[in-house]
Amino acid sequence: MAQRRKGAYMDEPLDGAEIKERLDTRIVGGTLEVHPVIDSTNLRAVALARAGAPEGLVVVAEEQTAGQGRLGRRWYAPRGSALLISLLFRPPLIPAQAQRVTMVCSLAAVHAVAEVGGLEARLKWPNDIVVADAKLGGLLTELGVGDGNLGYVVVGIGLNVNLDVAQLPDLIAPATSLSAALGRPVSRRDLLVSFLQRADDLYGGLRNGWSPRAAWREALVTLGRAVTVGTPQETLQGIAEDVDEDGALLLRMEDGALRRVLAGDVTLRGHGIRL
Ligand code: BTN
Repeated sequence: MAQRRKGAYMDEPLDGAEIKERLDTRIVGGTLEVHPVIDSTNLRAVALARAGAPEGLVVVAEEQTAGQGRLGRRWYAPRGSALLISLLFRPPLIPAQAQRVTMVCSLAAVHAVAEVGGLEARLKWPNDIVVADAKLGGLLTELGVGDGNLGYVVVGIGLNVNLDVAQLPDLIAPATSLSAALGRPVSRRDLLVSFLQRADDLYGGLRNGWSPRAAWREALVTLGRAVTVGTPQETLQGIAEDVDEDGALLLRMEDGALRRVLAGDVTLRGHGIRL
């Protein structure tokens, strides 16, 4: 691995055949596409989902020209610096439970970072992966709902791996990467295999009735903190008290009422950091 510039390293390109060979999974990675360049892995996975692709499909790219972030934002990652992954699931859940699949994938990412990088990443509600309050990655979930039924769930994950965060434009928040946090490069191949393997284990559990709530709650940095939550409708302030089975935030308001918040953008007021 040759160093390109401070904090940024180019490791081997992702090799779909090698990754499939190393996987021992039941569902995840049944089909695996690796694209040198694509508009967005989520766009591709959603198109394949609509065309009837089976669950377990994984779309990976070295580079995205139109990477999508939450709340209509763009997601940037220089070629070969990140893991850019979308996974297709068809869980036996109702639409209101779909966040459970995102919870499973975020826990799989935390596991992979620990296993391959030896680093404890945490989660920031609803869908950020953080190290020391700086953003290491994020998840963007898209649902297909028809007649009130959950047709598909596409979970997209971007993880900054061998990346100099100074290369990222328009940062709205402190960002980090594994190479920046560790001071050494990390194999994206090993990280991808670890992530897919754990996602398969946890998703298998979810299908069999396991609840990711306790593990997810443990991994969250948000709980117990004073937060400001921006939702499309309003801005709420309170203490992030808990999360429920479906990943909703339970916010203790200043008047003592408990509000259930499904999605939003959180500022951790104690630290004053907007991620
Ligand atoms: C966020 O805003 O924090 C979520 C970012 C999700 C980015 C990933 S990269 C792979 C997948 N494809 C996309 O276009 N977006 C997601």
